Amino acid sequence: MKIIAFGASNSTKSINKSLATFASSLIAGADVEILDLNDFELPLFSEDKEAEIGQPQAAKGFFEKIRSADGVIVSFAEHNGSYTATYKNLFDWVSRIDQKVYQDKPVVFLATSPGAGGASSVLSGAKASAPFFGVDLQDTVSVPNFYDVFDAQRGVISEPEIVDQLQAAMGALASKAGDAK
Ligand SMILES: Cc1cc2nc3c(=O)[nH]c(=O)nc-3n(C[C@H](O)[C@H](O)[C@H](O)COP(=O)(O)O)c2cc1C
Repeated sequence: MKIIAFGASNSTKSINKSLATFASSLIAGADVEILDLNDFELPLFSEDKEAEIGQPQAAKGFFEKIRSADGVIVSFAEHNGSYTATYKNLFDWVSRIDQKVYQDKPVVFLATSPGAGGASSVLSGAKASAPFFGVDLQDTVSVPNFYDVFDAQRGVISEPEIVDQLQAAMGALASKAGDAK
């Protein structure tokens, strides 16, 4: 079973990438590929730029990564209540290849932030729009106060209640991704 996981951030210290990586480790026996959005750098989307350069290789490459997956884990960073500019830009480019960016794959949406909100604002936006973009959403989990609940040395969430939520979400994802195979 092939799982693609990434943090929707271009921070080299992304806590969402750490969360997506930890969550993916809860799926026993999966072939997991962690993406780094810095590997999909794109010019700022505009219809003028699109007319000029067409569909860039990085957008096609990202679409291809999703196509190759049986299941996808996205952990959203929240910037001013919404997506990071990097994710939104990539998403806009890829949506011009196919509006069904997630290609009807089973998906889990996560989100975390250092604060008590747990990036729940971006998560609810992503959840609300999921049906428009080919997301077969299995579950969502928001993790507040990331630095209080993450053991950076071991790369694990140390709060049992959150691990339980993540485990349930990964179980649902693995079960659906397994069916699709
Ligand atoms: C421009 C900017 C805006 C931010 N806005 C929010 C916000 O609206 N809500 C929030 O919980 N955290 C906000 N933060 C803090 C982020 O949650 C924090 O930087 C987090 O590490 C981002 O996730 P990442 O490490 O995966 O990139 C903001 C950070 C930046 C740089």
